[in-house]
This record gives sequence, C-alpha cells and structure tokens, in this order.
Amino acid sequence: LKLLKSIEEVRQWRGGRGGIGLVPTMGALHEGHASLVRQAADTCHHVLATIFLNPTQFGPSEDLSRYPRTLEADLLICEQSGAEAVFAPDVSEMHPDMQTRVVPGAVSFAWEGARRPGHFEGVCTVVLKLFQISQAEDAFFGLKDLQQCAVIRRMAIDLNLPIRLHFCETVRESSGLAMSSRNSYFSPEDRRGASGFSAALFRSAEEISAGKNPQDILNEARSALTNDGFRVDYIALVNPMTMEELTIASKESRIMAAVEWKGVRLIDNVAACR
Ligand code: PAF
Repeated sequence: LKLLKSIEEVRQWRGGRGGIGLVPTMGALHEGHASLVRQAADTCHHVLATIFLNPTQFGPSEDLSRYPRTLEADLLICEQSGAEAVFAPDVSEMHPDMQTRVVPGAVSFAWEGARRPGHFEGVCTVVLKLFQISQAEDAFFGLKDLQQCAVIRRMAIDLNLPIRLHFCETVRESSGLAMSSRNSYFSPEDRRGASGFSAALFRSAEEISAGKNPQDILNEARSALTNDGFRVDYIALVNPMTMEELTIASKESRIMAAVEWKGVRLIDNVAACR
C-alpha cells in the first residue's frame, strides 16, 4: 500500500495508470468503507482511497474536533480491502487559500442541507477536487448518505464530470444499525439502543409495502421513536434523485430520517417498498 501525502505524489503514482477507482472517505474506517474499497477493487484496475477529514463540511457547532482519527488502522483496512494507494493529505495541501467553491442547487436545500448550512458546498468542493486530483474514472460512495449521493450525482451531471459514480448499499451491524464512524461515540449499551432507529425504518417500509398510507406510517414511526428516547429531526418519504418529499411510495422511493440519540446525530434510509 502506498501512502501519498501530497497532490504531486498522487500525480506521480497516477503516471500512466488508467482505470482508477476512487473511494473518498474522512477516515475512521469501518466495514462500510471496506466494502466500498472491495467494490472498487472488483470494478477498477487501481483503487485509490482518500482519507481527509474535510473541515469545510463541518459547521462551527459540529463534531470536527472530536471526530475519530485512526490513520494506522484505516491504512490496514484499505490494504486488506484491495486499495493500492491512500491519499491522506493535510488541510494545508487541500485548502490553501481557497477562493472558489461549488454551490449545489435545489437538491441540497432540504433535510441535511437545511440543518447544516454550507455542508454540501464543502462536500461538493472537496469531492470535485478529489475527482480532479485523482483523475479517477469511477468513484464509490455509500448510500447511507442519501442526500450526499443525490447532490454529487447532480454536480456530476451539471458540470459534465467525466466519472462513473457508484452508490453502494449501506452496510449494517447485526443489530441493523447502519455502520457509521460516529457509532464509536456510543457506550455498548447505547449502541444497542441505537438499533431501534433502523428497526423503525424497516418496520415502516414493511407497512408501506403492504399498502398502508405512508404519511400515517411515518407519523407512527415518529411517535414510536420519540417514546423510545430518540429526538426525531425528520422522517420522510423522498425521491432519492431529487430529494423531493413524496406522499405516494414507488419502487424507487426511500424512507429517510435523522435522529439524535444520546447526544449523537444519526442518519439512515431504506427502500420504502421491498
Ligand atoms: O461521506 C464522506 O465521508 C464525505 O462527505 C466525503 C464524501 C469523503 C467528502 O469529504
């Protein structure tokens, strides 16, 4: 495994290589990231993972300073999952006196975008830079961040980016809890309790698949989660391409939600119709 710290080192590693698959991450890797790297290795000749805790996508009151940093363990996961190189730049390498930013449109306005001002601008800008630096032909993202996927897809369309995007299914713990670097904030007991979140989403999907009214079902899920101690931020039926809220479920629609549990913000989404 090659550890690349500078953009120049990436350029040299790239050399004449074609068929690069990019897996952008912020580190604190888990099985969800490992599966992205494996899918990239199955699809592409060369896999470049990136580990960059991007400060521009965190708000001033968010968890940047306590976000887990586990570079040694991350490198091992990348190597074991089939990455050939890891680009892990410092902030000064990625954002020296940036004046230009990517401003995403309507797809970024609701849900996470409404609660985290500037978040998707930070994501789009760094992702576009990583696309440019790597010159990758393929890039892999986890569907757990459903709106991020929609925003990046739209950026690639709007800016004619010559890259194939792969959005990969969420990997879950055996309890159903979606894998997330933020799960490490929980005590074992709180982690067990957190699985009530995904359980509520899967229950809702079953009821909606059985033909029940989505609005009624999501209202019930909201109450049940609240009773169990979750602070529900939103729970909605959405079109995963546009992020528009829907009243009628179709094969494509997703149930998407954000909650706070024991002081930690969690997001997740599942197919509304099974
Ligand atoms: O999903 C993430 O980990 C980040 O938002 C990403 C895509 C690596 C950009 O910093």
